[in-house]
Amino acid sequence: MNINWIESIIFPKVFLNEGKASTFLRGKTILITGASDGIGKACALLFSKFNVHLILVGRSRERLDEVAKIIINHNSTASIFVADLYQEEQVDQLLAHIRAQQTPIDIFISNAGKSIQRSLQHSLLRYHDFTRTNALNYLAPVKITLAITPILSKQCGQIVNVSALNVLLLPIAKWAAYQASKTAFDQYCRSNQSEWRKMNIRLKTIYLPLVKTKMITPNVTYQNMPAMERNEAALRILKLLMGASSYSRPWWAIFPITIGFFIRKFWDRI
Ligand SMILES: NC(=O)c1ccc[n+]([C@@H]2O[C@H](COP(=O)([O-])OP(=O)(O)OC[C@H]3O[C@@H](n4cnc5c(N)ncnc54)[C@H](OP(=O)(O)O)[C@@H]3O)[C@@H](O)[C@H]2O)c1
Repeated sequence: MNINWIESIIFPKVFLNEGKASTFLRGKTILITGASDGIGKACALLFSKFNVHLILVGRSRERLDEVAKIIINHNSTASIFVADLYQEEQVDQLLAHIRAQQTPIDIFISNAGKSIQRSLQHSLLRYHDFTRTNALNYLAPVKITLAITPILSKQCGQIVNVSALNVLLLPIAKWAAYQASKTAFDQYCRSNQSEWRKMNIRLKTIYLPLVKTKMITPNVTYQNMPAMERNEAALRILKLLMGASSYSRPWWAIFPITIGFFIRKFWDRI
């Protein structure tokens, strides 16, 4: 079956009202982690069409500079902060920079992430897979959100958790490190949601399916599987920010979620 045809059904194109997007985004300051590539970069480039200030975080200065150049061509502004978010001291440096600049952040896109697919047998001597995925996918965004909650509160801001659909499904073999860390951050956010709400901060979570980025390229099994375009993922993030709903997931996600709920006992056996 033609994969493009399947993709058009399971990832229908979303329509963006540019006028509304402009009214919503104009003048806002948006912090994006993992802005040098993939979904983070696609978000930065999309938002930059609407006169915003972007704070771009990633490890590669070269790639962040390239993104910033395009943003400036779109008549938005960008500042760059090079940080390896695996390292807690570098997360602290980013936060010290934000405090020193007194940056009024309106939106935080928690996007930087690391994915690992590895069997238990091959993980026995690789505890570091777990510390690394936790450091980047869970602890760094926890530290950032704790530090910027007062700023977001003042701005009536929003936090976007760029999460994975797997978080809502039955856990599958070989994904323990990734799924545990993504689920931990999802739980942390959902647990804080009502308190953030009282502080005028909205939490938005996008549970993404496979997206065509470098994250999935090492995995050969994904090469012929339907996957969302990264620009479509960025559009969905913007629509989520603009809308009233607190989460977004593919329309068909209800089927594996429901099946998983009912067959857990059977699934555990197989
Ligand atoms: N692609 C998918 O199929 C998929 C599906 C569901 C959810 N997601 C989620 O979407 C988010 C973005 O993924 P993606 O597919 O866009 O990945 P990607 O193409 O690999 O991009 C990851 C971004 O994170 C940055 N990054 C990686 N390690 C970092 C570190 N230690 N410190 C700071 N920045 C770091 C990378 O920049 P540098 O290398 O310059 O640091 C890059 O900008 C992740 O949270 C992922 O879990 C992705």
